[in-house]
Amino acid sequence: RSYFEKQESLSKKKILITAGPTYEKLDPVRFIGNYSSGKMGFALAEECAQRGAEVILISGPVSLKVSHPNIRRIDVESAEEMYQAAITEFPQSDVAILCAAVADYRPKEQADTKLKRTDDTGLTLELVPNKDIAAALGKVKQPEQLLIGFALETNNEEQNALKKIEKKNLDYIVLNSLQDKGAGFQHDTNKIAVIDKQGNRRNFPLKDKKAVAKDIIDQTLG
Ligand code: CTP
Ligand code: CA
Repeated sequence: RSYFEKQESLSKKKILITAGPTYEKLDPVRFIGNYSSGKMGFALAEECAQRGAEVILISGPVSLKVSHPNIRRIDVESAEEMYQAAITEFPQSDVAILCAAVADYRPKEQADTKLKRTDDTGLTLELVPNKDIAAALGKVKQPEQLLIGFALETNNEEQNALKKIEKKNLDYIVLNSLQDKGAGFQHDTNKIAVIDKQGNRRNFPLKDKKAVAKDIIDQTLG
């Protein structure tokens, strides 16, 4: 397709994107988090907006800025806050792309005051599971809505990815490859494969995240 056709190809589409890490509070000054930079999700948001979509970007704590006027950004901190925003926005959306690295667990107790050091004993944290945002959206998904997830696997990657498609009722899953040095968290580049719910797989070479975003959109919404 030509550049100009592509540019408006997502007009009238409302696309929800989750991005970045979540922070799970331990006390007023500490959290459990992860290394997600948000770059992949923000690149997807910019790409969708450039193609004419109205984007709702639900972002965990990141140091990135959005520039496109068609991106409405909702900043959240915890998985629970991200869940609330996503479940509220999804019914009005045509597509959801779940790019966030959501913490699977949070501390059971969140202290109101700073936890104090005890010199003589260690500290054991009790964690409780967070809600699975992807699975929750998969449950309420309508036939005309599209749900796209991400997966980062270290072993049995394709088998695990297919299990996630089924469990979360996804239409596509984007598999992040850890095989390459320049791929994944904190990098400007990424190497992915897109797998659909029939198990068809398409591999892409290592590219910068802007180009990866184009590939993902072409492959799933193109
Ligand atoms: N996801 C989500 N909410 C969660 C956990 C994951 O929406 N609480 C989404 C991610 O954004 C991603 C997909 O589900 O699109 C797969 O995430 P992943 O962490 O790979 O899957 P899990 O089901 O958490 O399995 P595990 O971490 O054990 O591999
Ligand atoms: Ca997980």
